[in-house]
Formats: sequence, structure tokens, C-alpha cells
Amino acid sequence: MITIALSKGRIFKETLPLLKAADIVPVDDPETSRKLILDTNHDDIKLLIIRATDVPTYVQFGAADIGVAGKDVLLEHGGEGLYEPVDLKIARCKLMTAGLVDARPVNGRLRVATKFTNVAKHYFESRGEQVEVIKLYGSMELGPIVGLADLIVDVVDTGNTLKANGLKPVDHIADISSRLVVNKAAMKMKHAQISRIIQQIEEAV
Ligand code: ATP
Ligand code: PRP
Repeated sequence: MITIALSKGRIFKETLPLLKAADIVPVDDPETSRKLILDTNHDDIKLLIIRATDVPTYVQFGAADIGVAGKDVLLEHGGEGLYEPVDLKIARCKLMTAGLVDARPVNGRLRVATKFTNVAKHYFESRGEQVEVIKLYGSMELGPIVGLADLIVDVVDTGNTLKANGLKPVDHIADISSRLVVNKAAMKMKHAQISRIIQQIEEAV
């Protein structure tokens, strides 16, 4: 049995053609099905439908053999127990800091609101800046508007979300795309099957 962890929405949609190239086709559509384990055209390949942020955790602990996760999520997780064999080049965006267009200079420690707290801590540490990091789970763009934080760390694509909320990008932290990740033990134990899937997906990219 091979299990592949995916999140709904953007990653599922963009991964579907790549899986198809490896002859893996889900029987149900996760957007309409309530099932969390989807059957595929192979009896021994299942898809797990989970939150994007949880994908590295499932694969790290071997609850899924393979997963697709954004590099932002992988940087935040740390990548322990994972191989990252393929850059799928989908769901591309940038991890950035952003602040109010008309931000005033800050006295004292900057406050940074983000769901990427590890990334934010490492980033500001590497620049020798002392900041207070505030954990949020979404809608980070609101933080600076209501005075919760001076800056946010979030993914930016077109910049429309920042603009619509009176924010501007400040610094570029990393270029982001989704990666295929594989559990290290599964890579040894199920080598033939997993390396075939990796190779076919790599060719499709
Ligand atoms: P969760 O459901 O756990 O909160 P999420 O809402 O961030 O996660 P998605 O919006 O589906 O999940 O994003 C999945 C991945 O797609 C992100 O980890 C990131 O790598 C990438 N991504 C996020 N926003 C964009 C965007 N606007 N354009 C392109 N790629 C994006
Ligand atoms: C993502 C992300 C940003 C936005 C950036 O949100 O959280 O808010 O995209 O994209 P932009 O620069 O093109 O505006 P998404 O649309 O995925 O919604 P969600 O993550 O809040 O579900």
C-alpha cells in the first residue's frame, strides 16, 4: 500500500495532472466528497486529504508515504524525516515580510504576526534583529491594520491581497513552490514502487 497526502484546493488541483502522468487517478473529487481517504484507480494507492500545514507531519511519522507540500510549509516544519526529491513547480509564490503602506517608524522591538513563526524567528535572527513574533492562523494582513503587529510574514503571489488591505511587500524571504516529499523509511522499504512514482512525476514536471 502507498498513501499520498495532499491538501484540498490549489495543491490538489495542480497535483492532479502530475499524478495522472504517473497513472494515479482518484475515484472521488475531494471538493465534493466528505471522505478523507480517497480511492484511486489502483487498489494499493490511496490519497489522504488533510490540511496543507499537516502534510509534512503525516509524512514525517510515516502515516503517509508521500506528500505534496508548499516549501513555505516545509521551511516552517523543518523537514525532519523527509526526503524532498522533486520540485513540482506548482503553487508558486514568495514568502515575504509586509507592512502598512504608510507605516510609521517603530520605537523598540518590532512585532511580527504570522503563521510561519519558525521561519520568522530564523529570518529576523539571521539579520540580527530582535523581534516579537505573534502566532496567527490566517488573515495575517489584518494584523498591521488593527495595530496587532508592525509587520507580517506571509506568502504573496500577485500582491492583490496586500494591496487590498493597504499593505506593501517589504523584504523577500524565499521563493516558494510545492515539493514532493517522501518518508525516509518508506523510501527504503517500498523503494521500487515509490521511485517509479517519483520518476513519472518528475518527467511530467
Ligand atoms: P491551511 O488550510 O493549512 O491554512 P492554506 O490555506 O495556506 O493552508 P492553500 O491556500 O491551499 O492552503 O495553500 C497551499 C500552498 O500553496 C501554500 O503552502 C503555498 O505554498 C501555496 N500558496 C498559497 N497561497 C498562494 C497563492 N496566492 N498563489 C500561489 N501559491 C500559493
Ligand atoms: C493566499 C495567502 C495570501 C494570498 C496571496 O491566500 O494567504 O493571503 O494568497 O496571494 P496574492 O498575492 O495573489 O493576493 P489564499 O487565496 O490561498 O486564501 P487562504 O489561504 O486564506 O485560504
